[in-house]
Amino acid sequence: MEIIRRDGLARIGRFTTLHGKVETPTILPVVNPNLLVITPKEMKKFGAQAIITNSYIIRRNATLRENALKNGIHSLMDFDGPIMTDSGTFQSYVYGDVEYTNQEIVEFQRSIGSDITTILDIFSKPDDTYDQAKNAVMETFRRIEEIPELSGPMLAGPIQGSIYPDLRKESAELMGRSKADYLPIGGVVPLLENYNYDTLVDIIVNSRINTNLGKPVHLFGGGHPMFLAMAVYLGVDLFDSASYVKYARDGRLLYPEGSRDITKIRDFPYWSPLFGKYSPMEVNKLEKQEKTELLARHNLAALFMELDEIKERIHEETLFNYIQEKSRAHPYLYRAFRRILDHRDNIAYFQDISKKSPFFYYDSMSLLDPVLSRLRAFSMRYVERNRRETVIVPADSWRPGVPLKKEILALYESNPLNVMLEWCDLLVPVELEETYPVEQHLSSWHSDQKTFIENYNSVAFLVKPYEVRYLKDVLINPDEEIMRNFDLEKIRTVADFQFGTGSGLVLFPDGCVITKSRSTGRIRNILSDGKITGTMRTMDGFFTLTTEGGEKLRLATPYPLGRVVVNSDSAEYNRRGFNVFFKFIVEADENIVAGNDVLVVDENDRLLAVGKSTVSGKELSFYDEGVAVKVHHAINSHQETD
Ligand code: GUN
Repeated sequence: MEIIRRDGLARIGRFTTLHGKVETPTILPVVNPNLLVITPKEMKKFGAQAIITNSYIIRRNATLRENALKNGIHSLMDFDGPIMTDSGTFQSYVYGDVEYTNQEIVEFQRSIGSDITTILDIFSKPDDTYDQAKNAVMETFRRIEEIPELSGPMLAGPIQGSIYPDLRKESAELMGRSKADYLPIGGVVPLLENYNYDTLVDIIVNSRINTNLGKPVHLFGGGHPMFLAMAVYLGVDLFDSASYVKYARDGRLLYPEGSRDITKIRDFPYWSPLFGKYSPMEVNKLEKQEKTELLARHNLAALFMELDEIKERIHEETLFNYIQEKSRAHPYLYRAFRRILDHRDNIAYFQDISKKSPFFYYDSMSLLDPVLSRLRAFSMRYVERNRRETVIVPADSWRPGVPLKKEILALYESNPLNVMLEWCDLLVPVELEETYPVEQHLSSWHSDQKTFIENYNSVAFLVKPYEVRYLKDVLINPDEEIMRNFDLEKIRTVADFQFGTGSGLVLFPDGCVITKSRSTGRIRNILSDGKITGTMRTMDGFFTLTTEGGEKLRLATPYPLGRVVVNSDSAEYNRRGFNVFFKFIVEADENIVAGNDVLVVDENDRLLAVGKSTVSGKELSFYDEGVAVKVHHAINSHQETD
């Protein structure tokens, strides 16, 4: 799986099948070979790249079976794109046992030319006992193991485990390490049918974060537009949907926020393929089959329209904002959203160091956005390290992007105080004023809003045992002796936040020179011994390191901290400034933050280059296609240009 864009766990990715590439996130419409409502060919026009059908149904029907064996599944379905086949697991869950073995049904899928084949996994129901669910996990794993390897068609190995977090984790780990190259999350249809989205959130998180992040993840049955965005936010890449037909048969229309009955609407929405062609009343009077067909078209359009919006949001890195908006569409969705926030520390691990989009602050709920986890933890550590008097700069005494008032600087430079900014109901160190998301945010805060230290969610309990004053209660004498330099403290604090506590002193020792932009007055380059060690980015206030900076960090930190270790096939290229590809990585620090600068070293820990990691530490060892580190400074890069 190749990653094109990411926003936390959500990703726009691409993988290759025998019948072409699939770009995710996407939905595979379910096609019943006995009962074509919309032809797979027509589905392409709605945006379907691939479809899913059921090999069990095909195999049980003599005509379909003979046709599929003779001409192949693509001819049978009259579709030249990727086709996934399911195995009959769902039928065995609904009707009891099926008459084929796991090996037989996979062999059949292979012989009809399926692109993504599925084992006959054991469906673990939400109301299974722990022992039943454990058996489902172990038997499903045994069944993937018994399938012979075959290059070409992909093999889907579903993650089971019912509602038990440890079983989902175990199943996710087992499947992630197995020969499965496609990972559906199974056993969730009853939860989707009951709108039990909060339990589903737990299941997706436990399955997704514990499995092989380099393989596509599919949510079996998860094709309702209401929940798509949340599932993608949690890292689901693919969905299958029978809902477009099921709802159509019941006279129901899908919308991005829910569904409506055909008898209850005045008109079709503008985006519907039925808009301007029919009135709802006309459609409702049609014969059942024709009515189902028309409504199914509307429903497919709703699904793919929602997917387009989700992809746009991943590009913009605003998917969290979108699920926050959508969560208000229904109380059950809101409950699911809150459950997502309960998992914020797990999700935070996958967040990039900064986003293109500003942080949106609405109310205290926004404080649970995983994008704040690092800032909160750092502010906490900052105060823990500096147990001393604190002065709070209230929200109306400073403005993001505007230089701090002179008296605040004077106070800072002449006193060993914690100066903390009141920021979205959190207290954050003033040194981070330009760092994402402190500067890059939009807030609903207004000046008549009263906040009190007791209300602060962040570090209040840590600063309280010491003296805490508001800026207005502090006497400021501009003639006092200077005891620290704000710019120096700022660059060190930002470096501590970015690379770990202590990095600031290592990168920017006493005597370093800070240069500023002439036009903006903001810090630009930091030089040590006449050489640039780092540049502060205008975009997010973090540092881009040079190899001089990288070498300082490498000498001061134990292997493999902050490092991406490459094999000898890659080392020479990286030393000359070429990007690092996943497949050459030998080892990587698990705590690398996506989007942060990393040290590219060889197996003897010699620095080759410094660059930006495209993914988080754990992901670095899972992917095998694409660029892992975008190198921006390399040891020998000058030789290229000489
Ligand atoms: N379709 C819906 N749920 C499942 C599942 O758990 N396994 C398989 N194979 N197909 C499904």
